[in-house]
Amino acid sequence: MTSTEQVQTSEAAIDPTRDPRLDLLAKKPDQMEKLIALCFIVGIACFVAMMVFYVRGSSTQVEGALMAAGFGGLGVGMVAWGKYLMPKGPFEEERHQIGSTEEDRKAFADAFIGRGTIAVKRRSFLGKLLGLATAIFGIFSLGPLLDSLGPNPGNALDSTAWKKGSKVVTEHGRAIKVDDLEVGGFMTVFPEGNVGSYDGQTLLIRAGTSDIVTMPGRESWGPQGYLAYSKVCTHAGCPISLYQQETEQLLCPCHQSLFNVLQAAEPVFGPAPRPLPQLPLAIDKNGYIIAQAGYNEPIGPGYWNF
Ligand code: FES
Repeated sequence: MTSTEQVQTSEAAIDPTRDPRLDLLAKKPDQMEKLIALCFIVGIACFVAMMVFYVRGSSTQVEGALMAAGFGGLGVGMVAWGKYLMPKGPFEEERHQIGSTEEDRKAFADAFIGRGTIAVKRRSFLGKLLGLATAIFGIFSLGPLLDSLGPNPGNALDSTAWKKGSKVVTEHGRAIKVDDLEVGGFMTVFPEGNVGSYDGQTLLIRAGTSDIVTMPGRESWGPQGYLAYSKVCTHAGCPISLYQQETEQLLCPCHQSLFNVLQAAEPVFGPAPRPLPQLPLAIDKNGYIIAQAGYNEPIGPGYWNF
């Protein structure tokens, strides 16, 4: 074994992550620079391909794989640049040797005018490639911000399909009359003309035969024992589907929030942070159940209020 091979073997033993083949390559900076440039070009190509796939609406898995490959190319190139082309420390200089000798200056000038000039130019080329890859990825990042977040909802979340005078209908569109539900019965209802709407889904409950006041200010909201609450849970938006007549509670099946039907759907258990919005009801002259007005607050998860 030659002395050079002995040195390489001992270095590899000290640093197991160091690839001796790359060490050999590092002794040929021209080739190492080409290898790093190739890594950056691969990264750029992956980012461009990711933009193309995004615009054409491909699967997120493909876009994710291209993003990972793009960052991989940049990362490998940057690590190799720092590890094999940058000057290595530790750097020391004796105080009394601050000035260079005449021979040192001549040696530096010869090296710079020769191979050094080419190296500096090439490293500026690497810097441009790295900047181009970063710019392409930055531009791509604007796409999801400008496009994938969807339209601004504005005040749309403050109102629902329920309006003053909306007739209460079943999921088949049949209008509900005051005698349709027995005490203890409940059903999912919608405003007429908006059957199946997310924000219109409402639980209609017959909790008695006389008017029910769930809280002060709502004296006329529960005619002849009918109460109506938004079916969209105020915790995370699951549809509430269980009514326990014995305890007069509504149960959300997602995380077991319980709401007190007779007390304005106040949450009594679980993570729901606020009551279910109550729909003010009325009975028209033909005996049909109608809404006095829409909901008086946004339905669904409470974060809309922040
Ligand atoms: S969504 Fe209803 S309790 Fe979580």
